[in-house]
Amino acid sequence: MTQLLPATPENIARAAEVLKNGGLVAFPTETVYGLGANALDEQAAQKIFTAKGRPTADPLIVHLAGVEQATLVARSVPETAYRLMQAFWPGPLTLILPKQPAVPGLVTSGLATVAVRVPNHPVALALMKESGLPIAAPSANRFGHTSPTTAQHVWHDLRGRIDIILDGGSAAIGVESTVLDLSTTPARILRPGGVTREMLEAVLGPVTVLGQRRKAEPGLPSPGLLEKHYAPRAEMILFVGERAWDALNACLTEQRLARKVGVLAADEEAGVLEQAGAVVYRMGSDLNSIARHIYAGMRWLDGQGVDVILCRDYGTSGLGLAVRDRLSRAASRIQNAE
Ligand code: TXA
Ligand code: MG
Repeated sequence: MTQLLPATPENIARAAEVLKNGGLVAFPTETVYGLGANALDEQAAQKIFTAKGRPTADPLIVHLAGVEQATLVARSVPETAYRLMQAFWPGPLTLILPKQPAVPGLVTSGLATVAVRVPNHPVALALMKESGLPIAAPSANRFGHTSPTTAQHVWHDLRGRIDIILDGGSAAIGVESTVLDLSTTPARILRPGGVTREMLEAVLGPVTVLGQRRKAEPGLPSPGLLEKHYAPRAEMILFVGERAWDALNACLTEQRLARKVGVLAADEEAGVLEQAGAVVYRMGSDLNSIARHIYAGMRWLDGQGVDVILCRDYGTSGLGLAVRDRLSRAASRIQNAE
């Protein structure tokens, strides 16, 4: 039985007890909802993989209540990591650090490193303080699905499979944290996210961004970063390049005769698309709002029963990089319209 509970102090205390007893709690963070278990308890961590249907080769992020807990799970913390923690924690930045032996190998998929972050959400922080535990938590969705940005999304994917879902409203950022590998020089972004490349470069100087891969390969620095991920049920086509908007409209005109077509669009694009016969999900007008709405939009369009979802790229500056990354992983096809 899964309980969906408002995130009141009493319910947070109940959820902390469940975590201490080796159970599973889904909780809000500023990026997406996480599915948490005691990061130092291997059996509890195993339940996460089972509930999600996630392969154990895909390591988890360990969430902490504050910088002072970093050495609980990391064997050493380089000076650059402390600078980044000071600049961006609590917040959407995950750092890859050498692992402490106390962290079970299952949590890190056997890697010698551990991913850590301090989330910027009062419910997540209260849950960790109340339990006194570091919490291993991937996004709280079934493996391969879009990440959940509301408690209802978690309920849809995981009801009956976990103990408690704490409802703390909609996630403010809407795409996952940036995963940064500090073991190379320059540091390397393994997954673009809420802390942008520009923000990192203001602190560190130049950083690189890992390109996307189609299949699991031995030695991949971040095993979870497969190209096809975060996917809706419907087929999804992403249009990139200078003529992306025209190409999207041409595709809509052609496809809508035979199929129900959904579009993820910025507010100002919506009217034209609706007139052309599309079911439109409005993501807002700026990149912050678009990032906040892409996952909810994919889930909503799936709920409308569309056969295909069309969307376009919004560039690579700021949060645009994370938006492009998630849209291209969700897409069945990427059409280049130069
Ligand atoms: O915003 C977020 O990061 C959310 C919230 C819940 O905090 N969590 C999240 O977790 O997105 P998950 O499991 O969906 O993604 C974790 C990513 C995966 O791509 C995984 O491969 C990578 O972090 N990762 C974890 N441990 C790693 C390690 N030791 N080395 C390299 N990559 C690692
Ligand atoms: Mg995930």
